Amino acid sequence: RKPVTINTLQSLYRKNEPITMITAHDFPSAHVADHAGMDMILVGDSLAMVALGMEDTSEVLLEEMLLHCRSVARATKSAFTVGDLPMGTYEIAPEQALESSIRVIKEGRVKSIKLEGGKEMAPTISKITSAGIPVLGHIGLTPQRQNALGGFRVQGKNTASALKLLEDALAVQEAGAFGMVLEAIPAEVAALVTKKLSIPTIGIGAGNGCSGQVLVQVDMSGNFPPGRFLPKFVKQYGDVWSESMRAIQAYKTEVKGRAYPAPEHTYPMSKEEFSEFER
Ligand code: KIV
Ligand code: NA
Repeated sequence: RKPVTINTLQSLYRKNEPITMITAHDFPSAHVADHAGMDMILVGDSLAMVALGMEDTSEVLLEEMLLHCRSVARATKSAFTVGDLPMGTYEIAPEQALESSIRVIKEGRVKSIKLEGGKEMAPTISKITSAGIPVLGHIGLTPQRQNALGGFRVQGKNTASALKLLEDALAVQEAGAFGMVLEAIPAEVAALVTKKLSIPTIGIGAGNGCSGQVLVQVDMSGNFPPGRFLPKFVKQYGDVWSESMRAIQAYKTEVKGRAYPAPEHTYPMSKEEFSEFER
């Protein structure tokens, strides 16, 4: 499969073919996503929670993102890669954002960056794109701003906030983003915003009218213990946790019972050599 570029994504968008995107946070999770034929792989700052066990995304450092971006980039031969700018690395000034973006490209080895925010981030998006770094926007529910939003809440549920979303989407497009994530907004709003734009929207909890979809890999593959809370929009396509559990428990049982390693897992030695050694 040929590497997906910004042109491939534009052509999928023009053909009205949905763009597939999934998160990855390390070599194996990127490897499988790339082999499965995802169009885009996102090194989301959700890795703070799903890979590093942090409480929320505000804790993850740029250096930590860079390590994970590099691991994902090494595994990715065809998908178009995106790295999240973590909270605190782009809000101060467009120059700060460009500096952080350059590090994500040069040291993280991904092809583009994503940042959260609407109209207020337009000068920042312009600054980064004018340096030749593709930017994916992210509006609607922006998890880095959860404290200001009052938690993980659906956005654009009333006329005023839907209008604000549309205004943000147009500003992000005007600033030069190549697309944008729409997170946790009513499907009707996301579909109309998508219609009004001339760049692709990637939905997560934004219904079926977007130009593409993104999910967090550990969520959709079921790589978490039973009973964990999942947002309404997540569909669990697999049960990776149970499969890992089954394998590890079988290994444990066989080691405790001396059933593993069996002769076929063992290096042989000739009887003569051994008896010589035994003496
Ligand atoms: O960090 C992340 O995984 C994301 C996606 C959910 C869009 O930003
Ligand atoms: Na993110």
